[in-house]
Amino acid sequence: MKEYLIYLAQAYPEFRRAELESLADFFGIPLDMSHHNVERPFIIVTLENDEQAKQIMKRSILSRGIYELWGQGKTYEEVHANVKETSSDRFGIYKESSFKFDFIAYKGSRSNNERMEIIQDFSYLAFEGGVRMKNPDQIFSVLEEYNVNGMEKASEPLHIYFGRQIQLSARTENVLDKYDLRKRKYIGTTSFDAELSLVTCNIGQVGPGKVTYDPFTGTGSFLVAAANFGGLPIGSDIDARALRGKGEKRNIQANFKQYGTSLNFLDVLTMDFTNNAFRQDFGIDTIVCDPPYGVREGLKVCGAKHPEKAEGRENVVIDGEKAHLRRDFIQPKKPYELSDLLDDLLFFAAERLPVGGRLAFWMPTANDDFEVNQIPQHEQLELLYNLEQVFNKWSRRLLVYVKRDETYKGETTNGLKSQNIKNFRVRYFGRFTEESR
Ligand SMILES: C[S@@+](CC[C@H](N)C(=O)[O-])C[C@H]1O[C@@H](n2cnc3c(N)ncnc32)[C@H](O)[C@@H]1O
Repeated sequence: MKEYLIYLAQAYPEFRRAELESLADFFGIPLDMSHHNVERPFIIVTLENDEQAKQIMKRSILSRGIYELWGQGKTYEEVHANVKETSSDRFGIYKESSFKFDFIAYKGSRSNNERMEIIQDFSYLAFEGGVRMKNPDQIFSVLEEYNVNGMEKASEPLHIYFGRQIQLSARTENVLDKYDLRKRKYIGTTSFDAELSLVTCNIGQVGPGKVTYDPFTGTGSFLVAAANFGGLPIGSDIDARALRGKGEKRNIQANFKQYGTSLNFLDVLTMDFTNNAFRQDFGIDTIVCDPPYGVREGLKVCGAKHPEKAEGRENVVIDGEKAHLRRDFIQPKKPYELSDLLDDLLFFAAERLPVGGRLAFWMPTANDDFEVNQIPQHEQLELLYNLEQVFNKWSRRLLVYVKRDETYKGETTNGLKSQNIKNFRVRYFGRFTEESR
């Protein structure tokens, strides 16, 4: 086992541990993150080899890179002593390799001269392969962490690490720029943040060849994110317009083309999730989604709002054909409760996912009346993560469940309904005031 240093991103620090644990678990790699501190940009973990480090880091969105740790300390004297004591047997391995040094000063700054001086002090490594700035065999990194005390900038680092770069993350390799919504050919008002879509797919353990289903596809944000990790996305939505897009060049297919993942794309279909038409034996490995909560889009299901008025409609005939069997028939829709839809989602996942398969979805909650028992549960699904993204008066939570085998017996609860929680939409448009409770 070896020690590795992970340089973490500062976006969504509460989600970092879940992402890295999920990736490690996906690859079957034991990873202990119990000492993770959301305040710190670095964490030391133990892994068996570089291959494991590479596998995890290549997909990570909330990390920046991973390094084989050669030494650390509070001062450079300590770092050098530590490197010599713990890593001197490594110096020879890279003696002939071309190399360069990289410098990371987290929340601090160093002039070029200072950097050069610091790097010179590592000359005892006695590398002879020559410095190569472009594509060197090895990159050695000095990583400094400065204390951030209010607005005052610290002049000396709080802690210093030295290591050999093993792998930069998907984030560092610019995946966020690639999936930036502003550059995406087809988006709509419901398009989900690119970064968090990718994070959702990582925590949901989307992977190569895994059928990934988004039952509330909209403009397909989760589908393209899933394909980025090799998943085979399939989506459905009650709203055919969202799935169809805005012409040939601005639709879901165009997005896959833009990202070079068209071959992964299975399909999208217009379907009310509560009247799911998938064959019983259609295998779904992972479910990732952002259910409708009535703010930007309606939560509707197929059916007549006033059944008494709809009576006899099934007998309407147009051009000799029953109206409801014609291709251009538009289903009547009726409102539905979010709590019931989430219940349906959990039941569907419990029935259709394989043991070990994950369901990851976003649920909005008002901050002033949230209690943890509002989170819906199903006896066959274990809640692994409840990760919160906080806005001013409300939050959205990424809830991640895993399907367990029949020896697992949890509880089944319709969280929102059993709490008699007011519809999120009512609270949202009531600006979360007391009266809207
Ligand atoms: C929050 S949006 C999801 C947006 C999507 N993540 C995107 O990238 O655009 C929820 C979606 O659920 C759809 N929806 C509402 N009721 C539905 C139902 N009963 N069955 C399937 N989809 C439904 C809406 O049409 C909407 O597109």
